[in-house]
Amino acid sequence: MEKKTYPDRKEALELLKEAGERNPGPWTEHSLTAAHCAEKIAGYAGMDAEKAYILGLLHDIGRRFGKRHLGHVSDGYSYMMSLGYEDCARICLTHSFNGKDLDAYVGNFDTTEEETQLLREKLSEAVFDDYDRLIQLCDSIAGPGYVMDIIDRMTDVKNRYGSYDPAKWDANLALKEAFEKRMGRDLYEAVEKDTFQAVSISQVDLEMDDPSENRPGSTEDLLELRRVSPEYRDEIMAYCAEFPKDRMRVTLEEDRIPGLDHLEAYDDIMDWFRFTEEMAGKISWFLTFRTSDQRLVGCAIFRHDLKYDDDDPEFSSHIGYSVRPSEQRKGYAKEQLRLLLRKAKEAGLPSVRLICRKENTGSKKTILANGGVYVDTIHGEESGMDVERFDIKV
Ligand SMILES: [Fe+2]
Repeated sequence: MEKKTYPDRKEALELLKEAGERNPGPWTEHSLTAAHCAEKIAGYAGMDAEKAYILGLLHDIGRRFGKRHLGHVSDGYSYMMSLGYEDCARICLTHSFNGKDLDAYVGNFDTTEEETQLLREKLSEAVFDDYDRLIQLCDSIAGPGYVMDIIDRMTDVKNRYGSYDPAKWDANLALKEAFEKRMGRDLYEAVEKDTFQAVSISQVDLEMDDPSENRPGSTEDLLELRRVSPEYRDEIMAYCAEFPKDRMRVTLEEDRIPGLDHLEAYDDIMDWFRFTEEMAGKISWFLTFRTSDQRLVGCAIFRHDLKYDDDDPEFSSHIGYSVRPSEQRKGYAKEQLRLLLRKAKEAGLPSVRLICRKENTGSKKTILANGGVYVDTIHGEESGMDVERFDIKV
């Protein structure tokens, strides 16, 4: 059997959670942020996004042993080696040194002579690969729970410690440029700088964490939203045909497919298209296409105001969506919602309200993964359903 050089996602989260209980602090949210950035960048850069997430998550795991500066690098290295996770150990060591120069460390040299010797030795032996460089970059943009501008973050570190090695500063900027080139996109856009917010590690539900739901769009899985229009008539019909009646118990209207709201009220789909045009500026319908093969994978509705929801006011939501059954469990729901939140932001909404049935853990996971904050649970007399309400800042 091949040797495991890093743990799986669930174990990595457990390690971080346990470490956060031993030494609580914003460092755990910083780690979740670095992991998020690493996963996103890797997905776009054609690297292993899962591995990147895990390495990002554990790069500062040495902080488990208390508040130390250079000591956390040494602690992290030794701890990961003791568990046999060589890749993680190397990342613990290399994440602070993009020039392989121990003396360029920004912070206090609070290691024992023996530890310093070990760091020097291992650092000179280390062969940096794309993952070392990726985590170095992510560390230089990951704030305590949110993504920062690289200059702001380095300035912040400089102010805290009094200095910042100029070569390291330049090397970080070069890393940004190199990864942007590789991804073919802006770094901050790739890591969702303006919308990402890490949840606290104590709130991370390990059981709910399903890699298939959290995988970001890899290069071949990119999605794009397009406005509903009659030219997509056939695709929409094929989409609807995939929803057998017994799978549609998601909304109060029995035949309603979430995201294609009100279509059930029309015998002729062309009349529905006309209705969607009449509602312009009040309600927008979107079709989510996978760019690699132009397949319609999801449908979504965005109500510019809650009053345009025909449900009872307490059950109203800004956004509703579905993913076609043959394309579910591939992480598309999460990505689709992320794109919709961007639309909400463009429309000038400060936050959006979302609801999901209490037992619909998949939907709940999608909302939480996009920064959803639980509001409350309400009971629908008519539907007999318990519904959870969430708000997401956009
Ligand atoms: Fe870090």
